[in-house]
Amino acid sequence: MADSAGTQSGQNGPFDVVILGGGSGGYACALRAAQLGMKVALVEKGELGGTCLHRGCIPTKALLHAAEVADSSRESEQFGVRTSFDGIDMPAVNAYKDGVVGRLYKGLQGLVKSRKITFVEGMGRLVSPTAVEVDGRRYEGKHVVLATGSYAKSLPGLDIDGSQVITSDQALKLDRVPASVVVLGGGVIGCEFASVWKSFGAEVTIVEALPHLVPLEDEQSSKMLERAFRKRKIAFELGARFSGVEKTEGGVKVSLENGKTIEAELLLVAVGRGPTSQELGYEQVGVEMERGFVKVDEHCQTNVPTISAVGDLIPTLQLAHVGFGEGIMVAERLGGLEPAPIDYDGVPRVTYSEPEVASVGITESRAKEKYGDDGIETLTYDLAGNGKSQILKTAGFVKLVRQKDGPVVGIHMVGSRVGELVAEAQLIYGWEAYPDDVASLVHAHPTQTEAVGEAHLALAGKPLHAHG
Ligand code: NAI
Repeated sequence: MADSAGTQSGQNGPFDVVILGGGSGGYACALRAAQLGMKVALVEKGELGGTCLHRGCIPTKALLHAAEVADSSRESEQFGVRTSFDGIDMPAVNAYKDGVVGRLYKGLQGLVKSRKITFVEGMGRLVSPTAVEVDGRRYEGKHVVLATGSYAKSLPGLDIDGSQVITSDQALKLDRVPASVVVLGGGVIGCEFASVWKSFGAEVTIVEALPHLVPLEDEQSSKMLERAFRKRKIAFELGARFSGVEKTEGGVKVSLENGKTIEAELLLVAVGRGPTSQELGYEQVGVEMERGFVKVDEHCQTNVPTISAVGDLIPTLQLAHVGFGEGIMVAERLGGLEPAPIDYDGVPRVTYSEPEVASVGITESRAKEKYGDDGIETLTYDLAGNGKSQILKTAGFVKLVRQKDGPVVGIHMVGSRVGELVAEAQLIYGWEAYPDDVASLVHAHPTQTEAVGEAHLALAGKPLHAHG
């Protein structure tokens, strides 16, 4: 154990806040708390930055970018550009990916140091409502924030061996492109890896228990992604439950409850992430838990008043930016400010596959539950009418869900690069804009953001590049 940043060893406290876990939720809380003048200790057993920086968002998006480059070079002739695609040099892809992670990691370490946060390397454990112990040394704080994140789950009887049966942790470290993969779980991780591997040249089959890929998204988005994946020759089995896996000479033989079997070189298990909350002292100190998650109120405070919890450890959306938001909110509350609770429906969600799926607000089916079948209106603007999308040769849509005679309550998009459009969509949702409000804003031509503008023009009854 060593205090390696900010104040040196010997300064064990008392701190204003001791944070257990240095991922997105924990470090955002530390940075904001320090900014507000608090004395902060941040305890991390692995690497500062956590899942997002080292095993999640950043490395996977680097792979997805390399996949996009592969697609562009393979398909360049349709733009009149002749190239030859010679294949994927996986060690070089990994060097590029690791370079991105390394630079961000260094930057983050510098940030923590510059804010005079006491960084404690080591395995921490909650030992009282106001203390965390690391390697026999006690760090006392007026408050403790639990931010120990999540791990890749498996299914009962499904052993992750790390070579033939893997999770995203090992998938990010593969030194080769597998010839074929079965992806168990058609959620965000499953669809992103399926997309990468297909672009890299693998045969991919996704197995999803629910009736659609990315099942939390609006059904129309799921169906559009399925159509695009079908076109890309990514196979999938929907409404199909896994029943077992057998190791074979060449890899794995996966059996489904519907009697089908699929052989492949690898099985990627992407059936969700569970909270890292075992044997960390939480229950012993009296923190209320539910299915392994730490229970919190709308300000991320647990039933123990001095203890808060943020990020993947609590039962809110498991997204890095949610962790940032919760960490900042907790720091501000502890700093005596009065931050508003997070509107989780207003948090943007993006699946960075090709094509991308992005959304904010509620789905059409949830809007119907909330406002009644006749209480909503929807409009789908096809990217076929959007110049920039045609230039990119991408298909998809911008779908709006509004409360009848009321504001826009959901925006759902599919297509290459639509993840970048979610910023405007989030403002529209967050500011409870009416279609007319957005229709009167002139959008830059030719951009994909125009599709957002045109969807609102159409919903306001004055479509431009749309029939109807
Ligand atoms: P997920 O919950 O999104 O998807 C897991 C999928 O596995 C579900 O669709 C579920 O129905 C399916 N499943 C579960 N048991 C099954 C079985 N026995 N047979 C077949 N299918 C089964 O979880 P995922 O994709 O592992 O991601 C974990 C978390 O990480 C999510 O909360 C996700 O939002 C987050 N994440 C976010 C990313 C982003 O924002 N771009 C990227 C990657 C992960």
